[in-house]
Amino acid sequence: MCETPLYEALMNHKNKDMSSFHTPGHKCRSYLEDAGLYMLDYTELKDTDSLFEAKGVIKKAEEKVAELYGAKSTLFSAGGCTLCIQAMLRLAVLYNGKVITSRMIHKSAVNTMALLGARPLWITPKFDEEKHLFRQVTSHEIRECLSQNKDAQCVYITSPNYYGELADIKAISSVCKEYDVPLLVDNAHGAHLGFLSSNQHPIYLGASMVADSAHKTLPVLTGGAFLHIKDERFIKEARYAMGLFGSTSPSYPIMASLDLCQDWARKRGKEEFIRLEGRVKEIKNLALKKGFIKEDQGIFDPLRICLNTGNFGISGEEAAEYFRKNKIEPEFSDGGYVVLIPSPMNTDRDFERLKDAILGFNMNGTFVDSNRPFPTPKIVVSLHEAIFMDRETINVKNAEGRISAIAICPCPPGIPVLVPGEEINSNAIKSLEHYGIFEIDVIK
Ligand SMILES: Cc1ncc(COP(=O)(O)O)c(C=O)c1O
Repeated sequence: MCETPLYEALMNHKNKDMSSFHTPGHKCRSYLEDAGLYMLDYTELKDTDSLFEAKGVIKKAEEKVAELYGAKSTLFSAGGCTLCIQAMLRLAVLYNGKVITSRMIHKSAVNTMALLGARPLWITPKFDEEKHLFRQVTSHEIRECLSQNKDAQCVYITSPNYYGELADIKAISSVCKEYDVPLLVDNAHGAHLGFLSSNQHPIYLGASMVADSAHKTLPVLTGGAFLHIKDERFIKEARYAMGLFGSTSPSYPIMASLDLCQDWARKRGKEEFIRLEGRVKEIKNLALKKGFIKEDQGIFDPLRICLNTGNFGISGEEAAEYFRKNKIEPEFSDGGYVVLIPSPMNTDRDFERLKDAILGFNMNGTFVDSNRPFPTPKIVVSLHEAIFMDRETINVKNAEGRISAIAICPCPPGIPVLVPGEEINSNAIKSLEHYGIFEIDVIK
């Protein structure tokens, strides 16, 4: 009998010796293994400072990160980007305040707005029929929404999205500045963007606050994240806002890995990421020749490898199995795409495997397009009220006309089918079934 099921599953996966093209960015093999982090699992002591009242060594380490990214202040999080998103929204939005946001949004932001009593004003992402992808929100869409809602308290966007598409932060931030409204960016997938040959980090491009899931693309332990603040108005209350949501026992090994990462990034980050850009370019050229990708239109993270297997009439899930058989573990797959996340911690062998797998790709399958346009449902009850109402679980088949009590946000594409308080219509039912969701919590 297996006495430690989780531990054994992790060891079994490790023993498969897969090449990791998924998060975390340290790829389970970085210099961190030598840093003795397990031995540093301390708590708040006289020598070790305290995250939510940082005045000593944590603050010093954070200041180094702020300098690296060009932020006025940076806070560490051991509670992932989720904690940074919670804090950002708490800082920028008062109770009942309006948030202009693309519907391309992570569940953590929807849930935070529900808890805070914020009112999202949704901008529905446009669907690109050719690429079978939802596209990024534009500065024109933001301007239009701001001009009709001058009392909005912030603009909140997710950039990059799961497929690596970046919003035009420079243009969006200048619109936000015109209206004197802060721009908050969920940059969970883009902590590395400041180290590319051309700096694409949202802090550099004019955002007011940015949440980075450092662990996704940098050599940082899972759970490690940065909250960067450029707009000085938010600095004073930032630790309080984070402390509202965070555990009072943040992990010191995670925080130490953030500190080690900033040192690595300052000394080697740029050089390592520029080298990685070259490697990924080679892979993308190969994929382009093979027909896996089309020329990019729009702004994309040069490091995100997004293979359009739908071009071959093959579902992303089937193709992902092919890659697994070839010892490559992708980040995710959907009806038409396989997405891979490389980092400087990937080895030559990882890239050789990937090249061979792309060159050898020759299979038949069935294309199931999972990305489809879907209109934003009608709001019947406020997001805030809906999460506090009595609920019941019912079969999706019987849900037409009922009101969702939860956020259902399949990732990818990272666009909620429903958020709490929205009416379930026949389109929503089709989408839920399509994503394999057959039961739903509704308001009683
Ligand atoms: C777009 C986006 N935002 C936020 C998060 C939350 O990040 P974390 O897992 O670091 O809390 C994720 C996680 O997958 C994400 O994909």
